[in-house]
Amino acid sequence: MSSSSIPPNTSSAAAAPSIGPAIPPNVVRLPATSQLEALLTVIRDQKTARSDFIFYSNRIIRLLVEEGLNHLPVTESTVMTPTGLPYRGVAFEGRICGVSILRAGEAMEAGLRDCCRSVRIGKILIQRDEETAKAKLFYAKLPEDIEERWVLLLDPMLATGGSVIKAIDVLQEHKVPLSRIIFLNLISSPEGLKSVHDKYPEVRIITGWVDEGLNEKNYIVPGLGDFGDSFFG
Ligand code: PRP
Ligand code: URA
Repeated sequence: MSSSSIPPNTSSAAAAPSIGPAIPPNVVRLPATSQLEALLTVIRDQKTARSDFIFYSNRIIRLLVEEGLNHLPVTESTVMTPTGLPYRGVAFEGRICGVSILRAGEAMEAGLRDCCRSVRIGKILIQRDEETAKAKLFYAKLPEDIEERWVLLLDPMLATGGSVIKAIDVLQEHKVPLSRIIFLNLISSPEGLKSVHDKYPEVRIITGWVDEGLNEKNYIVPGLGDFGDSFFG
């Protein structure tokens, strides 16, 4: 499924080693389990009905969010259990928010809310020009205190990287430290991963799968076509 220049997804969600030119060191790939491959196979199938596309995308989004939460800092926390004994555990440290890159990123908000009740969510509307694939920023509405939060940046597809780079530019203008941005996406191209790493190596990227590349229209191949159209109809 992956090209010969791309190491396969690793069996644990550790940071991908920088052993090939295609996968930069800021990238974490979900473990390439047969479950993940099966979910991706459904959403890549052009015959999949919209309701199934939504259901199986949501399954993958949940895996991405769970992995994203593993990258947040924790601090020691001791609680008393009902047996009367202390349990020395951990608690999340620091506040988070989600930021979705509209339109398609909105599809990932529910998965984040399922894991983080009443999480604040900002929105950035960025659209690719259909001819040039150049990303254009239209609108941004972000939590006022976003510079103090960890940001889970949401967009299912990373193709040329233009859209997410523009979104990170906006977060930079709002003084969010790059080290506190975690970008979650379902499918990446090696070209997009490289572009983001070249400009923003400190930003962590958690991706479901790295595909072979881009076609002449700058769509990911084999990819799944236009995620937003399949999800929202
Ligand atoms: C898609 C996708 C990303 C972008 C990826 O959005 O959701 O935002 O393209 O491409 P890039 O890496 O080359 O910038 P699109 O602009 O098509 O809008 P949509 O969310 O309305 O589908
Ligand atoms: N946007 C998508 O939805 N899919 C691609 O392959 C590229 C951009």
